[in-house]
Amino acid sequence: DDAECATRIEVAKAKLGKRCIILGHHYQRDEVFKHADIFGDSLKLSREAAQSEAEYIVFCGVHFMAEVADILSRPEQIAILPDLAAGCSMADMANKVKVQQCWDELAKVIDVENTVTPVTYINSAADLKAFCGQHDGIVCTSSNAEKILNWSFAKREKVLFFPDQHLGRNTGYRMGIPLEQMVTWDFNKPQGGLTEQQIRDAKIILWKGYCSVHQAFQPEQIDAFKEKHPETIVISHPEACFEVCEKSDYIGSTEMILKIVREAEANTRWLVATELNLVNRLNQECKAQGKSVHFMAPTLSMCSTMFRTDPQHLCWVLENLAAGHVVNQVSVPPEQAALAKKTLDNMLLAS
Ligand code: 13P
Ligand code: SF4
Repeated sequence: DDAECATRIEVAKAKLGKRCIILGHHYQRDEVFKHADIFGDSLKLSREAAQSEAEYIVFCGVHFMAEVADILSRPEQIAILPDLAAGCSMADMANKVKVQQCWDELAKVIDVENTVTPVTYINSAADLKAFCGQHDGIVCTSSNAEKILNWSFAKREKVLFFPDQHLGRNTGYRMGIPLEQMVTWDFNKPQGGLTEQQIRDAKIILWKGYCSVHQAFQPEQIDAFKEKHPETIVISHPEACFEVCEKSDYIGSTEMILKIVREAEANTRWLVATELNLVNRLNQECKAQGKSVHFMAPTLSMCSTMFRTDPQHLCWVLENLAAGHVVNQVSVPPEQAALAKKTLDNMLLAS
């Protein structure tokens, strides 16, 4: 049962001591989250993985996060994902073949190598980070996207941004780029469904990917909630759509959402557009300060892949490690890892 599982996890952790570190993303369920040594958003956890001295980095998150941990850690360190099926459906919306096809099609219209910086959201497979490494590009997260776009525009006049259209659009718009200069590349259509003129005029070419958890938030939900509680302060993750971010008082990464609500005045009411586990935990935590923190969607949208990591999987990997067996290692091929590391290092330096 759960109590027994929690005890076994702690016993295995104690056996492993400093040889193992558990990193937990904010979307993890409570039963897993409570065992993490460090929690954070993608940027914070990437930095932790890069700085860790532990032999084993157990990542309670999704696949691309464990890949980043493998890439940024030393070769002898081992990155582990408790359930290897914990992917990210948004990351899966872009792949090397489709992005290369897009790049080649753009090359027929503009001088891509000299005018376009490829920028991949960290929510992407390692081979796409390697693609950015090959073309002098960079990685961004939800907390440094503006800095990274500034870095990119200092190099070249245009950006190809994948896989999340919303993060790209929301960030570009707040940097003063007009909506019409941010076009969406539909990877199922020839030339992305765009005219040559649209491609020439674009500042940002956005991949047509999205997060289904965040796309469930709609501006009407904000209107309806504020009708009942006009004093509500709205805060959204930048993976939410443009219309939701337009109606939000704050936009930020998971770490930023927590910081802003925690540091806000007592007795305030918050409506939050991000994953349910984070919102529920924040609500519990802030009750003592008289704050109420509400989840935006009427449906209970959770990230089903983050949810795959359960205490049983965590227990299984830790007990195996304690017994000297490595299970569920995530390992990026060295050549790909070297190129991907270049872009991640660019990111860590620029943010
Ligand atoms: P953060 O970097 O803001 O934690 O976001 C990660 C993610 O997957 C959001 O859906
Ligand atoms: Fe991916 Fe969305 Fe889940 Fe984040 S919430 S891991 S973007 S599917």
